[in-house]
Amino acid sequence: MASQISQDTIIRIEGVSKKFGRLQAVDNVSMEIKRGEFFALVGPSGCGKTTLLRLLAGFETPDAGRILIEGRDMTGVTANHRPVNMLFQSYAIFPHMNVETNVSYGLKIARRPRDEIMARTEEALGLVKLSGYEKSHPDELSGGQRQRVALARALVMRPAVLLLDEPLSALDAKLREAMQLEMVHLQKTVGITFLIVTHDQSEALSMAGRIAVMHQGSVRQIAPPGELYEAPNCRFVADFIGKINLFEGTARPADQPGRVRVHTEKLGILELQGDAEGSVTLAVRPEKIIISHEPGGLEGQISLHGTVMDIAYFGGHSKLFIDIGAGQPLMAEITNSNRNGGPRVAPGDRVRCGWRAVDTLLLTE
Ligand SMILES: Nc1ncnc2c1ncn2[C@@H]1O[C@H](COP(=O)(O)OP(=O)(O)O)[C@@H](O)[C@H]1O
Ligand SMILES: [Mg+2]
Repeated sequence: MASQISQDTIIRIEGVSKKFGRLQAVDNVSMEIKRGEFFALVGPSGCGKTTLLRLLAGFETPDAGRILIEGRDMTGVTANHRPVNMLFQSYAIFPHMNVETNVSYGLKIARRPRDEIMARTEEALGLVKLSGYEKSHPDELSGGQRQRVALARALVMRPAVLLLDEPLSALDAKLREAMQLEMVHLQKTVGITFLIVTHDQSEALSMAGRIAVMHQGSVRQIAPPGELYEAPNCRFVADFIGKINLFEGTARPADQPGRVRVHTEKLGILELQGDAEGSVTLAVRPEKIIISHEPGGLEGQISLHGTVMDIAYFGGHSKLFIDIGAGQPLMAEITNSNRNGGPRVAPGDRVRCGWRAVDTLLLTE
């Protein structure tokens, strides 16, 4: 089997399942992670992300399937003998040890020579920008700095894969965003494969090269961020990643091959590119919606009449909720690109709203 694995695969998960009592926490998961990737695992709370990381780290044993790391079957390999290091959600650093002692701890346990310990500890502290904090104690550090100590402690061991379970969840929004960028730079610098778990889809989109979306123990889609966002393969992924408008419909093949006619209660009949028959969901992202005050402003597009109900202002952009007589309002996003332009729309305005047919997603699952 090992000979079939391509050179650049570092983790291979083959049909792995894990039950806790009657609860199927991880359900027949298969995926491959490449060497040097920044890979994210996302999904709602309780979908099995932490359990999958713990299976990789060797803290749990699969009921079925197997895990290969660097081509080696991990069945029966204990946690401390795996080429991975896990950074826990509640990043544990020893409160009674200073920064340097915390970071060098693993190397001391591994009985590395003194010179090497010092050099690698310095290097790791440099990487996380904590040079000069060697003698500081954890209680003198900010939350963000303690997080860096935990990161340095993991990096100093030079694992092939670093498993990070919600590493930034304890930080406030601004610090979190800064750390997201830093982690991306850090990962590029050290070249270690990062497998990060987060319940925050926007965090995954901004950091990862590829993302796996999990739901109830199963992987629903694995793709780069742009593809997940613009071409989700099912309703769950479309709805979990970003914001989206969803409409139910029934599809039948159109006269032209490769096209379908979708009958919807809310939007009428639409003809779209695609291949589907039976019940489908149409989806469109809020930023794809075009708003026009002019009656003829949306020629040749999917076009509806609506009344602006609410406007939520976010500084750089605003979200509009438009009553299109469909039960649920249409969400639209407009960019506030002109400082003195004044509001383009106000609550109560009658508008035409629409989108280009090619911006409609046709979901069959
Ligand atoms: N040791 C355990 N014993 C029993 N149930 C568990 C255990 N660990 C996790 N679970 C359950 O398994 C499911 C998946 O948990 P987890 O992997 O922690 O999800 P996530 O990290 O995505 O929030 C949850 O329903 C959780 O309650
Ligand atoms: Mg978790």
